[in-house]
Amino acid sequence: MRTPEPQRFAIAILAAGKGTRLQSRHPKVLHEIGGKPLLAHVVAAASQVVPAQDIFAIIGHEADKVRAAVQSAGINFVLQREQRGTGHAMMEARQALKPFAQVLVLSGDVPLLTPHTIARVRDFHTKRKAAMTVLTAEPADPTGYGRVFRRTAKGKQTDEIERIAEQKSLRGREVERSEINSGIYAFATALLYKHIGKLGVDNAHHEYYLTDIAELLRKAGEKVLALRAEDPAEVLGVNTRIELAELDARLRARKARELMLAGTTIFRPETCDIDADVEIGTDTIIEPFVQLIGRTKIGAACRIRSYSVISNCEIGDNVLVLPGCILEDSVVRKGARLGPYSHLRPGCDIGEGAHVGNFVETKKTRLGKGSKANHLTYLGDAEIGAGVNVGAGTITCNYDGVQKYVTTIDDGAFIGSDTTLVAPVRIGRDAYVGAASCITEDVPQDALALARGRQVNKEGWTKKRRARIRSAAK
Ligand code: UD1
Ligand code: CA
Repeated sequence: MRTPEPQRFAIAILAAGKGTRLQSRHPKVLHEIGGKPLLAHVVAAASQVVPAQDIFAIIGHEADKVRAAVQSAGINFVLQREQRGTGHAMMEARQALKPFAQVLVLSGDVPLLTPHTIARVRDFHTKRKAAMTVLTAEPADPTGYGRVFRRTAKGKQTDEIERIAEQKSLRGREVERSEINSGIYAFATALLYKHIGKLGVDNAHHEYYLTDIAELLRKAGEKVLALRAEDPAEVLGVNTRIELAELDARLRARKARELMLAGTTIFRPETCDIDADVEIGTDTIIEPFVQLIGRTKIGAACRIRSYSVISNCEIGDNVLVLPGCILEDSVVRKGARLGPYSHLRPGCDIGEGAHVGNFVETKKTRLGKGSKANHLTYLGDAEIGAGVNVGAGTITCNYDGVQKYVTTIDDGAFIGSDTTLVAPVRIGRDAYVGAASCITEDVPQDALALARGRQVNKEGWTKKRRARIRSAAK
C-alpha cells in the first residue's frame, strides 16, 4: 500500500443530511443564499484552498440532485446511503480519504466560511502537529450548537479540548458555555480512522456524532486543539429558514462591501440584492433597490437606476439603465441606454450606443449599433441592423400559433410608428415603412412601403347624423 504524502490535505464536506428543521421537500444544502446553494458556497471556498480533485462531498439525502448542483466544480462524491450522523458520514469516506495524510472537514450548511479561515485551520493543525483541530467561535447566541469544553491548567483554560457536548446533552450550568463547535475540523487521517470505530449512538438522536471523536482521541493521548475563529459570523450554520434569511443578508452585505472597496458606488446597499458571483467594474453606480442576479457582469462607469432587476446579463461599459428595467440572459454593449421600464427577455443583444425605451419588450433580438426602439414596442426573434429607428408601437408578429419566425431589418431602415411586421419578413437597407403599416411581404432596399387603408374624409358626416337622430326622436 502506498503511504500518504505527509502534508497532503483532502477536504471532506458533510452534505448528506436532510435538514429536517427547514420543513422543506428539498435537501438543506440546496437551499440558496446569495443566489446559489449553500453547498456551492462551501465548495467555492474549499476550491481556493485545495485542488478540486482533493475535495469530497459526502452526499446522501437526494444525492442525485445535490451532485447535479455542484458537479461542475470537478469535485468528488462519497455516498452516505443512510444518514446515521456526522461520525457515520466520515466512516463512509474512509476509502476515499486514505491517500491523504490530513483531512479538513467542512459542513455543507456553514456557507460563510472563507478560504482564509480554512487555510488558517490547516496551518495551525500542521504547525501544532495535532490529531484533531476544532474551529470554535463565540457567537452572540450559542443555543443549538455543540459546546467546546477546554482543559484547564493552573486555573486557566488551555487550547486543548476535553470534550464537545451537543446542546441536548448539556447539564445545569453547561448551557452557559459560550464557546461553540463550528463543525469545521482538521484531522490526521490515520488517527481519525484508528478511533472512529469506537463512536457509539448513546445520545438523543441515536446517531454517530463526529464530535465524540474529540474525547476519544484525547483519552488515547492524542492532541486535540481548539482554534478560535477571527470572525464568529463566518461559522454560523443554517438549520432553520430564519437562519437562512440572516445568512443571506450577511452574505449580501459582505458582497456589497467587497464591491465598494473595489471601486463600485452602491447607494443604500442594504436595499440592494447582489448575488455572490456578480461582477461590477469601477465607477459604476448602483442606486437603491436594485437586484443583480446570478452570473451578471456589469462594466465600468455604468449607472443602474432604482428598481431594476438584472439576471445573468453581460453589460458593457458606460451603459445607463433607467428605473424599473427587467433584463434577463442578455448582452448589452457599451454606451447603450435602457428604460425606464424596458424588458429584455432571454437571448437579446443590444448594440453599442443603442436605445431601448419605455415599455419595450424584446426576446431573442439583436438590435444593432446605434439603433433605437424607444417606445411601446415588442421585438421578438428579430435581427435588426445598425442605425435603425423602430417607431413607437411597432410589433413583430413572430408567432402564428404553431411556429416562431424571424423578422430582419437591415441597416438604416426606418420603421414608422404602429407598424406590424408579420414574420418571416425582411425590411431592406435604408427602406422606409409608413406609420400603421401591416407588413406581410419583404420591403426592398431604399423603398417606401405603405400597407394601410387610405384615409377617406366624408365632409359634413357628423352634422347629418345628428340631424337624423334628432328627427327620429320626435
Ligand atoms: C453539528 C455538530 C455541532 C456543531 C454544529 C455546527 C455534530 C453531532 N454536531 O450539529 O456540534 O455545533 O454542527 O454547525 O456533528 N450530515 C451528513 N450526514 C449525516 C448527518 C449530517 O452528511 O448523517 C451533514 C449535514 O448535511 C450537515 C452537517 O453534516 O451539512 C451537519 O449536520 P447537522 O445535522 O446540521 O448538525 P448540527 O445539529 O448542526
Ligand atoms: Ca447544522
